Amino acid sequence: MALIDPGDEVIIPAPYWVSYPDMVLLADGLPVMPFAGMAQGYKITPRQLAAAITPQTRLLLLNSPCNPTGAPTRTPSCAGLGSAARASAHSHRHDDMYEKIYWEPEPFCSLVTAVPELYHRTVTINGVSKAYAMTGWRLGYCGGPKEIIAAMSTIQGQSTSNASSISQKAATVALNADQTCVTRMTEEFKKRRDVVVRALNSLPGVSCLPGSGTFYAFADVSRAISALGCATTPSSRSCF
Ligand SMILES: Cc1ncc(COP(=O)(O)O)c(C=O)c1O
Repeated sequence: MALIDPGDEVIIPAPYWVSYPDMVLLADGLPVMPFAGMAQGYKITPRQLAAAITPQTRLLLLNSPCNPTGAPTRTPSCAGLGSAARASAHSHRHDDMYEKIYWEPEPFCSLVTAVPELYHRTVTINGVSKAYAMTGWRLGYCGGPKEIIAAMSTIQGQSTSNASSISQKAATVALNADQTCVTRMTEEFKKRRDVVVRALNSLPGVSCLPGSGTFYAFADVSRAISALGCATTPSSRSCF
């Protein structure tokens, strides 16, 4: 809401967290959703991004590791997307919500880590609901350009007013405490990922890539649907 005027376009690589397009629509913006399927690891290429950018583009929204696929944006592809985005004047939002639920040996990469030139037009967001299992506390935080953060504060000050002081205290403790319990939790999540992904891949017509983070398993069931005689294109409703 702080960034989008009616008609502004927001690029949301698909598959995406289900709330993103509605957030854009609530701000009267237009979601533009380049798609990356399983064959490309659910990650759009810099070329796809460049093709999606228009003079109306106001914001690029990236999320890594991604809800729902668990796919990470690795440093080279983050750098590639950043270079494709650099030429346009739009802002960026990098959603690092699952930063701590991440199992790759290479370090977690956020957009400004890979492309520091984008620092002055990137809002990096995070929160305590995933890493600390504090979903109900409704506490998120972000860093970004002063004028965007000031506009966000103005909007929040007239809507939810503030994050409750109790949640703020709890989040301070979570962020500053010994993080061993987070490591234990994410190790457990990885074991569960392995069980779930193995089980999904053992089903006829189902394929599932192991996510590099998050706590989701995103299975491709198109072969199973085709085997039932149903069309898998979203526009077709025919079956048998
Ligand atoms: C990618 C992503 N960003 C942000 C959020 C918001 O998290 P919350 O509002 O629970 O702090 C979620 C929650 O599912 C998410 O998956």
